[in-house]
Amino acid sequence: MKVLLTGAAGFIGLHIASALAESGHEVVGVDALLVQAHGENAPVPDGLAVADIRTADLDRLLKGIDVVCHQAAVVGNGVDAQDFPDYATHNDYGTAVLLAAMARSGVKNLVLASSMVVYGDGRYRCAEHGIVAPAVRKRTDLDAGLFDPRCSVCDNPIAWQEIAEDAPFNPRTSYAASKVAQEHYAGSWCTLESAHAIALRYHNAYGPGMPADTPYAGVAAIFRSALARGEAPRVFEDGNQTRDFVHVTDIARANVAAIERVAEHPASVTAYNVASGQPFTIGAMAEQLAKAAGGPAPIVTGDYRAFDVRHIVASPRAAVEGLGFTAAIGPAEGITALATDPLRRR
Ligand code: UD1
Repeated sequence: MKVLLTGAAGFIGLHIASALAESGHEVVGVDALLVQAHGENAPVPDGLAVADIRTADLDRLLKGIDVVCHQAAVVGNGVDAQDFPDYATHNDYGTAVLLAAMARSGVKNLVLASSMVVYGDGRYRCAEHGIVAPAVRKRTDLDAGLFDPRCSVCDNPIAWQEIAEDAPFNPRTSYAASKVAQEHYAGSWCTLESAHAIALRYHNAYGPGMPADTPYAGVAAIFRSALARGEAPRVFEDGNQTRDFVHVTDIARANVAAIERVAEHPASVTAYNVASGQPFTIGAMAEQLAKAAGGPAPIVTGDYRAFDVRHIVASPRAAVEGLGFTAAIGPAEGITALATDPLRRR
C-alpha cells in the first residue's frame, strides 16, 4: 500500500515509517520539522517532504495514496492558556485542512493518532453507585496528601477500572481538546465521504528516540533525562497514580495493523486503545528506571498539578479483536531498556 505519513520525522512517526517499510509498504513522509520539537536546522531524513500540512501542496502529496496515517501534531499537556492557539492551529485546523484535501483527492482511508487523554480521568467504580465519574479533586484533599478521587455522588472512595473505548470524552487540556476535535472532524469526514477512519488512542508512549526533557515532555522522558544528569526522578503525588506505558515499537505495529485493515472497517471512526495492558504506578516506574540506570532513588515529592488525572488504565481488548494487535514489549522489559535507550536532543 502507498501511505502518506504526516509527522514522519517525529518520535512515533519515525518508528511507523520503519515498520511500514519492513512490512513492504511505500511511505510518503511529510513533516514540518517544527522548531519547538526539532530545534533549529534539524537534519532532514531521506525522502522527507518538509512541509506544514496547513500550507503544503496536499493535492500533489495525496496522488496515488491508499491510506493517510496522520501523526503530525503539537503534543504534550500544554503549559498554560497561551498554548491554546498553537494546539488549535496545528492539530484542529491542520486536520481539517488534511481531510478537505483527502475529500478532493478521493482518498478514503485515515489512521489518526489519538490519545488516552480524550477520556480525562479514567473509569471508577463506587461500592454504592456503580460506575461513576470521579469528582474533581479538592485542593484541601490534595494538600492533605489525599490524591485518590472520590465518588461524584456520595464523596466516598472509588476504585479504578480499565477504560474501554466507549467511555465518554472528558478532555482536560488544550492538547486533549484538540485530540477530541480531530476525532470529531474525522467522524464528520467519514459521514460526508463514506470514508473509513481508525483513531488509535495511545497510552503513555516511551522508547528509543523519545524527545529529551522539555516543558512539553511526558513523565518517562522527564525521569530518563533527570537520571542522565545524575539526578533523582521527582515523583509527584504519592507515586501510586497509575498509567499504561506502551513501547513505541508496539505503537508502530498497531499503526501498521490499522493501515492494513482500515478499508474493511465501517464508514465511521473506530477507536482503539493502544496500550501494553499492564498497568504500572508512576512510583514503580521511577524505581525501575532508576535501578536500571544505576542512578539515585526516586524522591516522592507530594507535589501535584491541577490538570493531572490520577489513574488511567486501558482495556486492550478491542485492539486485539479489531486489529489483531497485542503489545510485544511489557513495561518491565521496556522501562529497563529505556535507561540506556538514546533520546532525541533538540
Ligand atoms: C502523557 C502525555 C500526553 C499523552 C499521554 C498518552 C505529556 C506531557 N503528556 O499524559 O500528551 O497524550 O501521556 O500518551 O507528554 N509526573 C511526575 N513527575 C514529573 C512529571 C509527571 O511524577 O516530573 C507524574 C504526573 O503527576 C502524572 C504522571 O506522572 O501523574 C504522568 O504525567 P505525564 O506524562 O505528564 O502526563 P499523562 O497525563 O500521563
